[in-house]
Amino acid sequence: MQRMMTEEQLEFYRENGFVQVDDVFTAEEIDELAGAMEEAMVSEGVNSIANGANNSSYSKVLNQKVNVWRDHGIMSKYSLHARTADIARQLSGASGIRLFHDHALWKMPNDSKPTPWHQDMPYWPMNEPGALSVWIPVDDVDERNGCMMFVPGSHKVGKLTGISLTNPQNLFEFAQGTGIEERQPVVVPLKKGSCTFHHGLTFHYAHANLTDKPRRVLAVIYMPDGTTYTGKKHIVTENAGLTVNEPIRGGTFPLLAK
Ligand code: SIN
Ligand code: NI
Repeated sequence: MQRMMTEEQLEFYRENGFVQVDDVFTAEEIDELAGAMEEAMVSEGVNSIANGANNSSYSKVLNQKVNVWRDHGIMSKYSLHARTADIARQLSGASGIRLFHDHALWKMPNDSKPTPWHQDMPYWPMNEPGALSVWIPVDDVDERNGCMMFVPGSHKVGKLTGISLTNPQNLFEFAQGTGIEERQPVVVPLKKGSCTFHHGLTFHYAHANLTDKPRRVLAVIYMPDGTTYTGKKHIVTENAGLTVNEPIRGGTFPLLAK
């Protein structure tokens, strides 16, 4: 069943660059997703791409696997889910929404590091703004196990430099003079089943995981249909047969909502 955003939620997203949406998935759905993600994280899929599973400095920040939907049927049910894709369509105001990629984003226990303040868009090979992420935890999250924080309105600052997640520069220094450094970040604890959507230019951060269990999240990146390719190197666009300045389309970037 589709979920219509209220005018208040749409306005909140447009103004702040993120929005919390409660009870998007039922407890049964979250259990199914959690089980599938557990399987996907340990299986050696040929189409997904892992990063951070070893003992690198990146692994202290995130243990992540990209395009898990391409190796696991139940993951594809959630990564391609019409409910979240349609919410993304409504928030972005686009007439159609495509998948860019999914990623399982686990923050492992033991010597966990925060995900530093960054914008997502500088890493994505897209000419136009408008792409956004849904962040779906399958465990309750708060400041002790890696919940997110957002700087309201920071998506209006424009595209800054991509930050190293392991040796981070201070994102706020790149935004000097914009007034963003005075804005109070908003901490967003979530109950499982609820999620956040954030704009690709919104400043965001996730706390370290100080508990003894992994913080398990599925994030899905959506882009408005018609978003064009810059040619910048990115793991999911390699060998995808894309042409610079032409729309990002094709079988691995399916249209999910219109
Ligand atoms: C995280 O889950 O720790 C970070 C998510 C993001 O950067 O979008
Ligand atoms: Ni991010």
